[in-house]
Amino acid sequence: MSLVLDSAAQDLLFREARTANTFTDEPVTDEQVQAIYDLVKFGPTAFNQSPLRVVLVRSAEGRERLVQHMAEGNRPKTATAPLVAILAADNEFHEELPALLPHFPQAKDMFFSERPARESAAGLNAALQAAYFIIGVRAAGLAAGPMTGYDAAGVQKEFLDDDHAPLMVVNIGKPGEDAWFPRSPRLSFDEVVTTV
Ligand SMILES: Cc1cc2nc3c(=O)[nH]c(=O)nc-3n(C[C@H](O)[C@H](O)[C@H](O)COP(=O)(O)O)c2cc1C
Repeated sequence: MSLVLDSAAQDLLFREARTANTFTDEPVTDEQVQAIYDLVKFGPTAFNQSPLRVVLVRSAEGRERLVQHMAEGNRPKTATAPLVAILAADNEFHEELPALLPHFPQAKDMFFSERPARESAAGLNAALQAAYFIIGVRAAGLAAGPMTGYDAAGVQKEFLDDDHAPLMVVNIGKPGEDAWFPRSPRLSFDEVVTTV
């Protein structure tokens, strides 16, 4: 009763949403991905720095190049998901910052002139955006299968460059047969939350 989001939406985004390990053949269109991005881009990041970058792997050739860098257990689902997205952090996000933060353009030089500061900020904020992205996939009635089981250096070399660090690979589509591992328990409120 404390939540204002209706119960069906709560189920769609969280309670009944699961991490899919198999997928049907139903395609995931560019229009769906654009609708997901146009929703989740509003999720907050520090200084509005928006460091997430996304590579959609659509071609058979691209898929083959990606699968070889995935951990063994992640290969079959990455090979067969209708769409696979590589989510990456842009460590040079500061170049866009004056445009993204027009009321405080000095932030670029005040806080992000050094690469280590940018890498730290980009890692955190792009990970936040990756989480928004996963929830956005669910909002589109699709299932996401995020994975960090891959050779990050290999994925970076194959699909990105020195300024873009891979965060996770996400399989996207309608869940197929036996799509779920057993639902694992979650920590309770009392185990997680303390009040001072
Ligand atoms: C960042 C991240 C990395 C993950 N990496 C893998 C992976 O490499 N392989 C895999 O099978 N599942 C991976 N998972 C899936 C998680 O194990 C799964 O989302 C979690 O257990 C919750 O499952 P549920 O949504 O079915 O409750 C990953 C999930 C996240 C969010």
